[in-house]
Amino acid sequence: MRILFIGDVMGSLGREMISTYLPRLKQKYHPQMTIVNGENAASGRGITEKIYKKLLQDGADIITMGNHTWDNREIFNFIDTANKMIRPANFPKGTPGVGMRIVKVNQEKLAVINLQGRALMTPLDDPFKMAEELVKEAKKETNLIFVDFHAETTSEKIALSWHLDGLVSGVIGTHTHVQTNDARILPKGTGRLTDVGMTGPENGILGMKKEGVIDKFITALPHRFEILEEGPGILSYCLLDIDNASGKCLKIENHVISNDHPFFS
Ligand SMILES: [Fe+2]
Ligand SMILES: [Fe+2]
Repeated sequence: MRILFIGDVMGSLGREMISTYLPRLKQKYHPQMTIVNGENAASGRGITEKIYKKLLQDGADIITMGNHTWDNREIFNFIDTANKMIRPANFPKGTPGVGMRIVKVNQEKLAVINLQGRALMTPLDDPFKMAEELVKEAKKETNLIFVDFHAETTSEKIALSWHLDGLVSGVIGTHTHVQTNDARILPKGTGRLTDVGMTGPENGILGMKKEGVIDKFITALPHRFEILEEGPGILSYCLLDIDNASGKCLKIENHVISNDHPFFS
């Protein structure tokens, strides 16, 4: 099974990158499964039902989320029926939505898990323990397991990938919006990329207008950051090839494309 995973879609530019380039990426790579992190899809903060549906229409099979899940309150109206969306599984018990979905992909099943880190983030339930529980549950049905670990620190993300080595097909990080160049297969067969990076404005700071962010660093005064909605866009993704029988990762690669660079056609 080939999985295409696209990192944090940021606002209108991110969504434009998806509608323009996702069909082309699918044509080029023929993934059986496309997973998109949509936690910033609505103006950088959360997601709406309309955007959720558009991402699916543009080619996403599953939408994962993160710390911005609840930023757009519209989500409370549709998350119960959004059966192609997952939010971090280690939110407190009773939180709307689910953190894992097992989806049928041709003759196979793939479990997709979303978790959120705790280092330099809101303290949630233990993502390591939650991962163990969910993997155990998923293993009853399939060896093919994909984890989007939405976390701030490289150390926590790398730690979870080692913790799950041999148990899952891939542990891919999201949230920092900057792609790391460390895609590799761990010794027991888990594909790991510390962060896949974001999809959205290229000339901002993590997707936000740069002036406000710079000013905050200089003045230390509070600022409400605004999303950048003009200029070139990037799309950050990775591909995993997984052995259907064992669930082990056979190949992993990471890429960032820009609509401003002539080398991408
Ligand atoms: Fe994000
Ligand atoms: Fe995030």
